[in-house]
Amino acid sequence: MTAQDFILKSYNSNVENGSVKWASPSNIALVKYWGKKEGQIPENPSISFTLSDCKTITQVTFSKKTGNNFSFDVYFEGEKNEAFKPKIQTFFERIETYVPFLKDYYFKIETSNTFPHSSGIASSASGMSAIALCLMDIEQSLSKVEVDNDYFNQKASFLARLGSGSACRSIEGELVVWGNNESAEGSDLYGVKFDGELHPNFHEYQDAILLVDKGVKQVSSTVGHKLMFDHPFAKERFSQAHNNLAKLIDVLISGDLKAFVEIVENEALTLHAMMMTSMPYFILMKPNTLEIINKIWEYRAKNMSNICFTLDAGANVHVLFPKAEKEQVYEFIKSELVAYCQNGHYICDSVGNGAKRL
Ligand code: DP6
Repeated sequence: MTAQDFILKSYNSNVENGSVKWASPSNIALVKYWGKKEGQIPENPSISFTLSDCKTITQVTFSKKTGNNFSFDVYFEGEKNEAFKPKIQTFFERIETYVPFLKDYYFKIETSNTFPHSSGIASSASGMSAIALCLMDIEQSLSKVEVDNDYFNQKASFLARLGSGSACRSIEGELVVWGNNESAEGSDLYGVKFDGELHPNFHEYQDAILLVDKGVKQVSSTVGHKLMFDHPFAKERFSQAHNNLAKLIDVLISGDLKAFVEIVENEALTLHAMMMTSMPYFILMKPNTLEIINKIWEYRAKNMSNICFTLDAGANVHVLFPKAEKEQVYEFIKSELVAYCQNGHYICDSVGNGAKRL
């Protein structure tokens, strides 16, 4: 597939109005996307678990309009929200070539998250993928050509990527690869569902998100990705991501949990190492992030557990563990880790199957 294949060629502009609604999940990267080229093209391949419960629910109601401009309003949790508009305006500008009906309609975008707004969890992946899916759904109701499910998902992911890179990994489950690579089917343009036979060890893998710092991110991901331009270790990092992806693909099939832990933690710490060694440099972990990591290592050694952690570009900790360890690990979280969470807050999630039409 090339970008050209995603251009909608003809559509029926007689459709006056309509409404669509989608729920789209967040995802957590195991091999991280950090660094991008022009046009939201990743510098290296990434792979993520799609989450089950952390989702954005978006309804888009559209009605015919005249004039040659984008016209839309955004409602977040029932209230009109001006702050989200610039991001969506930019998104519309980037995707107009592919969904040329955007200026023919007024869009009312009503959105809400299943996770608390001020949790410090990035909602751009679930938020952008939910809008992309709604627009694909609208495209289907206007289009003269019926497309299959694969094309629908690919184009939804392609559009979502233009909103936020990691959003392209939120359309399907349980794992999605994004970026050209030598080890798994993948594309720089959209996320591809991991099609290997996933070892049962990874079914319903658990992700407890420990909210260490619910504040606004110190570094937005857009700024963060730019730090990889001229980064002294960029070349090595991008090649490491290819190697880690290759190893992880084998592990997902073999079920080798020890190797899984090693790759995932290595990726998380490398992401933060890149931020610490860029110019300007940042430390996004908080003291409690480190306390939690040390506790996880202690618990793993003592209990022969396969618990591990990963991090996004912030202080919160994603605690990953097999379903078989669920009871014991939640006991451990409650007794030893909650103390390091802001107001004792954490979110229990697990690997899910992707977005759903509502
Ligand atoms: C650290 O997808 O938020 O979470 O493409 O600029 O919107 P933009 O960036 P974004 O970056 C996510 C970075 C990450 C790692 C990852 O999810 O792979």
